[in-house]
Amino acid sequence: MIELGTKIPKPYPVSLAPMMDWTDRHFRYLFRMISKHTFLYTEMIHTGAILRGDRKRFLSYNPEELPLAIQLGGDNPSSLAECSKISEDYGYSEVNLNVGCPSDRVREGNFGACLMETPEKVAELAAAMDAAVSIPITVKCRIGIPGKESFEDLYRFVETVKSAGVKRFIIHARIAILGGLSPAQNRQIPPLRYADVEEIKQNFPDLIVEINGGIRTYAEIEERLKKNDGVMIGRAAYETPFLFSELDSLFFQDDTLSLSRREILIRMQDYIDRFLRNDTNSKPHFVLKHLLGLFHAEKGARSYRRILTEKMFSDYSRDLLIEATREIPDSALDFIPSQKKNRNSAELESTVFPS
Ligand SMILES: Cc1cc2nc3c(=O)[nH]c(=O)nc-3n(C[C@H](O)[C@H](O)[C@H](O)COP(=O)(O)O)c2cc1C
Repeated sequence: MIELGTKIPKPYPVSLAPMMDWTDRHFRYLFRMISKHTFLYTEMIHTGAILRGDRKRFLSYNPEELPLAIQLGGDNPSSLAECSKISEDYGYSEVNLNVGCPSDRVREGNFGACLMETPEKVAELAAAMDAAVSIPITVKCRIGIPGKESFEDLYRFVETVKSAGVKRFIIHARIAILGGLSPAQNRQIPPLRYADVEEIKQNFPDLIVEINGGIRTYAEIEERLKKNDGVMIGRAAYETPFLFSELDSLFFQDDTLSLSRREILIRMQDYIDRFLRNDTNSKPHFVLKHLLGLFHAEKGARSYRRILTEKMFSDYSRDLLIEATREIPDSALDFIPSQKKNRNSAELESTVFPS
């Protein structure tokens, strides 16, 4: 008999999707300078990595990243329960179970999207996790998999998993094709079916339902929020992060943050200095690669990307960011989105990036 959980996850209108190799702690630190309030997720971490691997490396994060959910992958109730407890002790805000990854390797391990085949199994996993912690357990899934792709299948999945106490579902509005399509194709080829997710919200008004997939602009976020509790943004936030610097003022009623890109780069340089000093295995490109999209569509962006790409791996020096931004006009470096104006260079807190 499954016990009903009692923990209510906080509602967040916008979250940043878990993305393997992309949303690591360095990118999340960067994104926090763009939005203080967007709910962040780690990349998926398999229970085996936590229980048998370098736990500190997998679980450490910067306190600035909170509120932050950890996403776990696995199919063993006691391992997932143990990892949930460890994650709670590390201070994570929520534990999320991956029921959406379509990769062959993940399918061979019997976790990720293939778990949508067996909602009772997901309920068992979620119940074990829920019993181990006092933070919320949530689920990120697809709208279906082949053979279980009707709305009725999705309804049954949500109804069954809800009975284990799960109150936040993040639903990627595409089915996952298991075998035959790569993970990248699985984020592009199956058509988006937003209506299915919206209908889940209508049928389960007490659940927090977040919609994910193909959402790239403020207008699209606004549109989707009419019928869902939250929107999860993935690729767009990684590829063009600065386009999202009005998230706090538009969706969280807070325009106190608002940093220009020059200020962000100053802080990232300090961050890189600290990272290189404190972690002997660190390399500058672990952080710098996440800065490549910062000047998307601005004059000088191509030269910025080229210089960073050419030099971050083997020719790094502390002048690299200054060199890379040489062709970026001050108007782009100092622009503050929420105020639609440029920061006076005298207001800058450091001289690392002289204007
Ligand atoms: C590089 C990459 C890695 C991803 N890794 C994960 C992951 O670890 N866990 C997960 O649930 N989804 C993962 N996803 C899927 C995203 O979380 C998201 O569901 C998908 O990209 C659709 O959202 P979007 O259209 O806004 O990008 C990944 C996506 C990308 C592009």
